[in-house]
Amino acid sequence: MSIPVLKFDAVIVGAGGAGLRSAIQLSEAGLKTAVLSKVFPTRSHTVAAQGGVAASLGNSEEDHWHWHMYDTIKGSDWLGDQDSIEYMCKAANEVVVELEHYGMPFDRTDNGKIYQRPFGGHMSNFGEKPVRRSCAAADRTGHAMLHALYQRNVKANTQFFVEWMALDLIRDAEGAVVGVTAMEMETGQVVIFHSRATIFATGGAGRIFNSSTNAFINTGDGLGMAARAGIPLEDLEFWQFHPTGVAGAGVLITEGVRGEGGILRNSSKERFMERYAPNAKDLASRDVVSRAMATEIKEGRGCGVNKDYILLDITHLDPATIMKRLPGIREIGIQFAGVDCIKEPLPVVPTAHYQMGGIPTNYTGRVVVPKGDDLASVVPGFYAAGECGCASVHGANRLGTNSLLDLLVFGKSAGDSAVEDLKAGKAHRELPQGAAEQSLARISALDNRKGGANVYETGLAMRRCMQDHAGVFRFGDMLKKGVDKILEIEKAAHELEIKDKSMAWNTARTEALELENLIEVAKATMISAEARKESRGAHVRDDAPDTPEFPNGRNDKEWLKHTLFFPQEGNKIVYKPVNMKPLSVETIELKTRSY
Ligand code: FUM
Repeated sequence: MSIPVLKFDAVIVGAGGAGLRSAIQLSEAGLKTAVLSKVFPTRSHTVAAQGGVAASLGNSEEDHWHWHMYDTIKGSDWLGDQDSIEYMCKAANEVVVELEHYGMPFDRTDNGKIYQRPFGGHMSNFGEKPVRRSCAAADRTGHAMLHALYQRNVKANTQFFVEWMALDLIRDAEGAVVGVTAMEMETGQVVIFHSRATIFATGGAGRIFNSSTNAFINTGDGLGMAARAGIPLEDLEFWQFHPTGVAGAGVLITEGVRGEGGILRNSSKERFMERYAPNAKDLASRDVVSRAMATEIKEGRGCGVNKDYILLDITHLDPATIMKRLPGIREIGIQFAGVDCIKEPLPVVPTAHYQMGGIPTNYTGRVVVPKGDDLASVVPGFYAAGECGCASVHGANRLGTNSLLDLLVFGKSAGDSAVEDLKAGKAHRELPQGAAEQSLARISALDNRKGGANVYETGLAMRRCMQDHAGVFRFGDMLKKGVDKILEIEKAAHELEIKDKSMAWNTARTEALELENLIEVAKATMISAEARKESRGAHVRDDAPDTPEFPNGRNDKEWLKHTLFFPQEGNKIVYKPVNMKPLSVETIELKTRSY
């Protein structure tokens, strides 16, 4: 079968913040750039980011990028690479001011500067007290950001392919990436996008869990494609549970609520975070707060008839402040919990939110994999940024508002690196024989298989398995069982059948293809989590000894290293040391983490 081939200098998969930011660099450099997206760009999941983007602008009080760097390393439980973290924190002010110049409508202080609010784990003077570092547009920062970035791309003539799903990465015999196959979702037409540079910015895969703040589109497509093409997945055992998802609905309630003065209370109305984090209290880092909430619930101090949620209280705030700074949150409370937060506290629970790991990159956005003795050899033509990439700035736990910063900084650096590589004059490499075969075979199997597994039931089994076996607290025996279960579910996920071809066949196909991606992420998560025999950041195991030698169960002697999971090589794991050497300052030395 002859498959149409479209040639571009650069193809970017994903039109959220990272994809749009990298596209600006390429299009403004005059390169022919395509962006593929399953949804209209301004509906990408970045739109759901609420509370802000971190930058040490110091608009309301003294701040410094070095303090931000320290907080990010501490937040990562020292698993973050210190060169990447320094790079990101130093670049923060510039990328935020750029956005302002693109027209982003940030809130303002009385003297006209960008408004900043405190967020968990962001402190002044190397951990002293909370600092106002999160640059916010009310509680709709991601929404405002996406619109500013999209408009800039329209001006720069970026070509958008909307409602297109990328299917598989195309690598040549030398392992270089030469493009992707993609399907137009409306018609089912498969096309090859032949490119000199391919950037993945496909976001997260929070839909591997049953209860998630993530949009339905967050199905780990980039990770699935990378995994199938032999690229390892890094640090996927580390998943962030956001402390405040609406109980029963999962919808995000921004940490900005606590930044504006919100307090978490248990069934006795106690401000229990004072016991768990005496200094930062409700503004401790997310892993600490989520665990404290889960402990309160587990020990019978949860709220409601079933004692299964915590209350987030802002009834003491001036209603005018709520309407000005948190209007979307009031709306969400009314719509999803039937609660007006001006009058009553909101019911919240920790909810799966963010994947700290992803496709391994360095801070230039280039994808790096082990080759011989080199654990970080560059894959020619391949870049990744945003949640799907892992420049390793979040390590074992991300600080709130560092996600928007990550996608701006590494979206820009991936774009710049691609421009640099393309300007070096590299022509299109030849497409390998049968470049679209894998994709066509996957689609044909889905369409024609008889007696295969049901897509909905298999997806549900995966989500339940992940929720039950790899949640906020992890148990050695449960992880072992989780591995067996997920490997069973994986078999079904490779034998899917689209049962009802008469109804919305193309939507059903997309869902099945998405599940094939999700299962790669779920499997990498479970196996990597079972293998890591310590507690660190968001990965907390009951069987990791909490002793003076290993405070909080963290074992730096054996486990100060990144996981690289190779699904194509029998689920092999290779470990890679954490980079403890920043670019220009001294190493932030290991310490026990407390807030
Ligand atoms: O709480 C929030 O507004 C989410 C921000 C983030 O995940 O960075």
